[in-house]
Amino acid sequence: MKITVIGTGYVGLVTGTCLAETGNEVVCVDIDAEKVEKMKNGVVPIYEPHLDVLFERNIEAGRLTFTTSLDEGLEHGQLVFLALPTPEDEDGSADLSYVLNVSEEIGQKIKEYKVIIDKSTVPVGTAEKVYATIAKNAQCEFDVVSNPEFLREGFAVDDFLKPERIVVGSSSERATALMQKLYAPFVRSGNPIIIMDEKSAELTKYAANSFLAAKITFMNEIANYCEKVGADVDKVRVGMGTDSRIGKRFLFPGIGYGGSCFPKDVKALQKAGRDEDFEFKILDSVIEVNKRQKTILLPKIEGYFNNDLKGKKIAIWGLAFKPETDDIREAPSIDVMNALLEKGATLTVFDPEAMPNIKKQFGNKLNYANAMYDALQGADALVICTEWSIFRTPNYQKLKQLLSQPVIFDGRNLYNVEDMQAEGFTYYSIGRKT
Ligand code: UGA
Repeated sequence: MKITVIGTGYVGLVTGTCLAETGNEVVCVDIDAEKVEKMKNGVVPIYEPHLDVLFERNIEAGRLTFTTSLDEGLEHGQLVFLALPTPEDEDGSADLSYVLNVSEEIGQKIKEYKVIIDKSTVPVGTAEKVYATIAKNAQCEFDVVSNPEFLREGFAVDDFLKPERIVVGSSSERATALMQKLYAPFVRSGNPIIIMDEKSAELTKYAANSFLAAKITFMNEIANYCEKVGADVDKVRVGMGTDSRIGKRFLFPGIGYGGSCFPKDVKALQKAGRDEDFEFKILDSVIEVNKRQKTILLPKIEGYFNNDLKGKKIAIWGLAFKPETDDIREAPSIDVMNALLEKGATLTVFDPEAMPNIKKQFGNKLNYANAMYDALQGADALVICTEWSIFRTPNYQKLKQLLSQPVIFDGRNLYNVEDMQAEGFTYYSIGRKT
């Protein structure tokens, strides 16, 4: 099928590349000429595991091409994906200006039947707005469908190629049939393509992300309470998670959720509710508790150093908001580091992928280590903010040699408490005994 993807951010690029992989002819459009030039030369502009292999293969096969010209893009595809940013507005709502500006141009430019597919996370009612915006000028038939994405950063290629479900919000039989044809290769396993109205599809995305954010947040509160009463959250987590109604996943406590999706989407749903005089009380709590959770290690660190962090040297392992990404948007590490800097600590940091992004934001406020152990040289403590695999089985002997005091504050519960005690560390984690 002939496909156009407008916007080559993380979602657009994964969508375009994976659709090319199943034999479709995909043209990706982006206004950023420099980025388009790079992509034409086979350079993947983001870090996403496995994307590079598919990217190269499909460019070489001529199924995946790039342009800055919207005209060229619209000339090509019958299915036109909108994968544009919907950033958080000052009031917490989603800013639709990118989506609606492009819709305006689509209305002026299309000459034959197209399906415009909303992939971006957009508030309920956006498909209607996109339809109305295109309809003002369109000289031909078209449909607008909502097709929210459920990709996780770090697993996006796998999530796209083997989705648990595909949600399509469509009220046109013609568009629905085309969407079913497009996605058929991805659901051979029997996973469903769920067809519904546009508004329900739009809300499904917000509801899913907000539910997951609430699930993590609930577990974080249970972890904090475990510390109060001397229970062990690892035990509680397994005890709860084996109930299939609860499920084992997304129950790992830590220093809060971050990223480009959960924080933005929870706030957007809260704001959308308020616009309808509807108070999502649970979301108010999720936002508040997660904010607090990001710096939950601070009292422990301060307590250990007798409330005096001035001049203390602290090593930070993990800066990305989660492993397998270089994305630092809303990363808990940022809150942790700002709080420690404010208290006068000196920080030396390491992350396998996110160093360039953190450097851009923090500049010379931090020291940057070239390797994980380099960060520890002479440090008074180690703080772990992201659970990268390489941090999971460190050389404890080396850790003890390098740290001036064998103390670890672990925001992601990487190690077994008893093992750490046996190794001679003072070890603080989340929801477990010290
Ligand atoms: C999330 C959703 O999982 C995707 O389904 C969705 O498509 C995507 O947002 C989006 O809206 O685009 P992502 O932001 O990549 O994906 O990250 P997740 O793997 O879901 O993790 C989100 C945050 O929750 C991370 O900060 C992670 O550290 C935290 N988390 C996750 C926990 O603290 N505990 C857990 O048990 C699981």
